[in-house]
Amino acid sequence: MNFFLETLKVVGLSVVYYLEAFFRLFVPARRKSVEGEVVLMTGAGSGLGRIMALEFARLGARLVLWDIDEAGNLETARLVKETHGARAHTYTCDCSSREEVYKVADRVKREVGDITILVNNAGIVTGKKFLQSPDSHIEKTMEVNSMAHFWTCKAFLPAMIAANHGHVVSIASSAGLIGVSGLADYCASKFAAVGFAESMALEMLAIGCDGVKTTIVCPFFINTGMFDGANTNILPVKLGVLLGEYLGAFDFMAKFKGHGKKSN
Ligand SMILES: NC(=O)c1ccc[n+]([C@@H]2O[C@H](COP(=O)([O-])OP(=O)(O)OC[C@H]3O[C@@H](n4cnc5c(N)ncnc54)[C@H](O)[C@@H]3O)[C@@H](O)[C@H]2O)c1
Repeated sequence: MNFFLETLKVVGLSVVYYLEAFFRLFVPARRKSVEGEVVLMTGAGSGLGRIMALEFARLGARLVLWDIDEAGNLETARLVKETHGARAHTYTCDCSSREEVYKVADRVKREVGDITILVNNAGIVTGKKFLQSPDSHIEKTMEVNSMAHFWTCKAFLPAMIAANHGHVVSIASSAGLIGVSGLADYCASKFAAVGFAESMALEMLAIGCDGVKTTIVCPFFINTGMFDGANTNILPVKLGVLLGEYLGAFDFMAKFKGHGKKSN
């Protein structure tokens, strides 16, 4: 296809994808039922985790709530019971610790059973310019916001794959799609979370596991106490893919030769 036709295609499909995204604002895609699903929510002790726990309970899911903050987690369980009459299993877990994630995951499997929906939501932000951020905060941000996703997936994904049934949700961020001044370590951790979740989705496709779904959520700022203010516009996903294809992002390594040296 020549340059003119390719450009025409991009312009035409851009309009179509924007219209589709606009249409979806008013007519959302059909939602799946989560009734009876066993949902594990990390970071359930406040903010989005608490709100999502209440919503999952309203929709009839069974809940397993994890948080490093025991009191906040118990309060979420109390609210779930008070609001929806549902029981939630609470576990205190520091998701930044691989050993603790595996230990608590084993307890969950023994005491509750297999998880069918895993929501990796726990997150932290340092909120300092990179050079002013203490090393320990930077490491912790990576451990909680991205590496914890490795360990929870290692713990719970095999049973989902075996049953060809499940869903892994990554609560990432719009800061996982674009760099932000003052959020360098946070952005790095959220880019990692997005890359990991996208790759896991492709691994599910590659092994033909069509019953295990993945969702990546990239919210903008929400007034939970973690952030305040700001605004942006985000492209529809299909338009992003279209532009990536147009700019050659998907096959730019096709003719790669490098220095021609062997690596070992
Ligand atoms: N609030 C926003 O504007 C916003 C925007 C984009 C993305 N997000 C993401 O949404 C998620 C939820 O954020 P929120 O706004 O509800 O924040 P929040 O601070 O209200 O909740 C985060 C929860 O994670 C828990 N947590 C922190 N470290 C933990 C650890 N080591 N182990 C287990 N639990 C831990 C906290 O105790 C807390 O209950 C985060 O991943 C955040 O990065 C938030």
